[in-house]
Amino acid sequence: MGYQQEYQASIEQPEAFWQKQSQRIQWFKEPKTILSKDDNGIDRWFADGQLNTAYLALDYHVLQGRGDQLALIYDSPVTGNKRTYTYSQLTEAVARCAGMLVSQGVGKGDCVIVYMPMIPEAAIAMLACARIGAVHSVVFGGFAPNELAIRIDDASPKVIMSASCGIEVDRIIEYKPILDAAINMATHKPTRCVIYQREQQRCELTAGRDIDWQQAVAAAQPADCTPVSALDPLYVLYTSGTTGKPKGVVRDNGGHAVAMSYSMSVVYDMHPGDVFWAASDVGWVVGHSYIVYAPLIAGCATVFYEGKPVRTPDAGAFWRVCAEYGVKGLFAAPTAFRAIRKEDPQCLLAAKYDLSKLKTIFMAGERLDPPTYDWVDEHIQRPIVDHWWQTETGWAIAGNHMGLEPAKVKAGSVTRPSPGFNVQILDPRGRPVAANEQGSIAIKLPLPPGCLPTIWGNHERFVAGYLGTYKGYYITGDGGYLDDEQYLFVLGRTDDIINVAGHRLSTGEMEEIVAGHSAVAECAVIGRHSDLKGEEPLGLVLLKDGVDIDEETLKMELVQRVRDSIGAVASFRDAVVVQRLPKTRSGKILRKVLRNIANNEEYLTPSTIDDPACLGEIEQILLKKGLRPEN
Ligand code: COA
Ligand code: AMP
Repeated sequence: MGYQQEYQASIEQPEAFWQKQSQRIQWFKEPKTILSKDDNGIDRWFADGQLNTAYLALDYHVLQGRGDQLALIYDSPVTGNKRTYTYSQLTEAVARCAGMLVSQGVGKGDCVIVYMPMIPEAAIAMLACARIGAVHSVVFGGFAPNELAIRIDDASPKVIMSASCGIEVDRIIEYKPILDAAINMATHKPTRCVIYQREQQRCELTAGRDIDWQQAVAAAQPADCTPVSALDPLYVLYTSGTTGKPKGVVRDNGGHAVAMSYSMSVVYDMHPGDVFWAASDVGWVVGHSYIVYAPLIAGCATVFYEGKPVRTPDAGAFWRVCAEYGVKGLFAAPTAFRAIRKEDPQCLLAAKYDLSKLKTIFMAGERLDPPTYDWVDEHIQRPIVDHWWQTETGWAIAGNHMGLEPAKVKAGSVTRPSPGFNVQILDPRGRPVAANEQGSIAIKLPLPPGCLPTIWGNHERFVAGYLGTYKGYYITGDGGYLDDEQYLFVLGRTDDIINVAGHRLSTGEMEEIVAGHSAVAECAVIGRHSDLKGEEPLGLVLLKDGVDIDEETLKMELVQRVRDSIGAVASFRDAVVVQRLPKTRSGKILRKVLRNIANNEEYLTPSTIDDPACLGEIEQILLKKGLRPEN
C-alpha cells in the first residue's frame, strides 16, 4: 500500500487500522476491544488483549524455527570483546536471568532499575523483567548519583541491576561508588542489588544487599513468560522536563509491541534476518525501541555496540561495524556523523570497508543540519532518513517511510507524519493554522499505539504538561510547520529543553543547580549552538551583592556542580557573569532573547522588557569571551 492510502486509513478509521496491525504479533489472548478509555479517561489500545513482550522478542522466533539465527551481536572496541547470541541462546539467557529475579522476590508489577553500561546483560535484564511482567526502568550510565537517586525515589525499585564498571573510550567508570552514593541519597532503599562483575574492574559487594549477578544467574531456574495485560506497564523511562524533576514516561505492553512491529517494517523496512544497528545507548528511548525491542520483535539481528563513533579506535568505527556484520539499517544521531566528519573530513576510512549491505541511514534525536546531511549523502551515497520522535511517543511521529513508498526528500524536513499520528500545527489559541505557517506541533487525539498513557505516579503532570494546553491535542513541545504537501518541518523546542549530542537535557534543572551556588543570586541557562553537539549549555550568572569571587574560579565551581549533580553528559562547560538579566516587567527572564543573542540570530526587543539596555551589554560580554559567533 502507498503512503497516502495507509496514512488516510490510519486517521479516518483508526480502530480498523490498528486492529489489522495488531495481528502482526502473537497474542496470548487477542484483543477484541481495540480503542477504549481507561479510568483516567485516556485513550488506550487493545485493553482486553494479553501477551508477553519478551515472548514476542524471543521465544516466538525460536518456535518459528529461527532459534539458530543471530539475535544480538555485541561489539565492544573499548574492551576488545565480541560476542553473539542466537535467538535460542538469548532466550535461554533471559529465562535464567528472569528466574534469578524471581528468586529475589521480583514479580509482576514490581519495578527494577537497570543501571548498566552497553553490555548484552543490559538487554538481558530488560527482557528478563518483561518476561515476568516486572517493570524496568533503565537509567543512562552517564548520569551522576543524584540523577540516579531521583529515579530510585520516583520508581521505588525492589531490585537494582548494575555492573562493576563502564568504559568511556579508555577510561574506566566505576559504577559501584555511583550506585552506593545514589542509594545513600535516596529515601527509598532497594532490597537487593545484582551486580555484574566485569573483568576490567571488579568491585566489592555490600554484604546483605548486593549479590553477584553471574553466580546468582548460574544458580537460578529458568522462568517462563508471564501473560500480562496489553495495558500493563512494560517500562518507565525518565526524560527531561522543564523542571528539575524528570518525567517517568510509561510504556504499556500491547500498544508498544504493535508499534514496534509496525514501525520496524513501515519506517525502517526491516524484516526477519536483517541486521539493524541503532548506535545509541539502552539508557535512551532509541536504545529501548530500536536496540532492544523492535529489532527482536521483528526477528532481526541487533548490533549492541560499546564504543563511540570516533576514538574507538578511529572515525572508521561505524563503517567497520556495518561491514563486519552486514548492517542493512544504521540509525544514529547527527552528532555522531558530525564527530566522524570532524576527524575524517574526506570520509576516507569508509573506503576501507565493504558497505554493500548498507541500504539506509536513519537519523534522529536532534535536528539534522543540512551540512551533515550533505556530507553523509556525498560520501556514503545511501538514502538518508531524518525522522522525528521523542521519548514520549516511542517511535517516529514523522519520517520518510522506507517500507511504504519513500518520498522525495526536502531539505530541512522530517518528511511526512507516520500513519497513526494526526499531526496539526496550532496557533497560541489552539486553532490549526494554514499550510506553511509556523506554530506549536500537536497531535490530535487519539495518540497511536506505543505512545505514553501517563507519567509514572503523576498523572496530573501528564495531563497538565501534554494534554491540558489545547483540548483534544497532545502537545509535543516542538514548534514547526507543515507545507502544502504535508511535509513537516521541525524548528526546535518551544520550551527550555535543549539537545546536547542527541541527549535531551533540561536547562531548568541546570539553573536550579547553578543557582544553588552560594555566590549566585540569579541565573539563566540557555542552549548555545555547537558545531559538534548541536547545542551546548551556557550559564549567565548574576552575583549576589557584595560577593567577591574570581570569574574563572566561579566557572570551574559551577561546571563541577553540574557534573556532580547531573553528570558529565550535561556538557556544561561555560558560565559568564553578567550585571543584569533581561526580564519582563513582571520579572520573567527572557531566555529566548538570550538564546538569540548567544547564537547571533536576529531578534526583536520584546515590548515587555524591563530594561532593554542590558541586551547590548550581554552581547558585548559574550563577544569578548568568544562565546558568540561574530557577524
Ligand atoms: N558513562 C559515563 N560517562 C559518559 C557516558 C556514559 N555512558 N556517556 C558520555 N559520558 C561522558 C563522556 O565521557 C564525556 O565526559 P568528559 O566531559 O569527561 O569528556 C561527557 O559525558 C560528554 O559526553 P558526550 O556528549 O558523549 O561527548 P564526547 O565528546 O564523549 O563524544 C560524540 C561526542 C558526538 C562522539 C558522542 O556524543 C556521541 O557518540 N553521540 C551520539 C549520541 C547518541 O547516541 N545519542 C542518542 C540519541 S540517538
Ligand atoms: P528525546 O525524547 O530524548 O528523544 O528527545 C526528543 C526531542 O528531540 C524532540 O522533541 C525534538 O526536540 C528533538 N528531536 C528528535 N528528533 C529530531 C529530528 N529528527 N529533528 C529535529 N528535532 C528532533
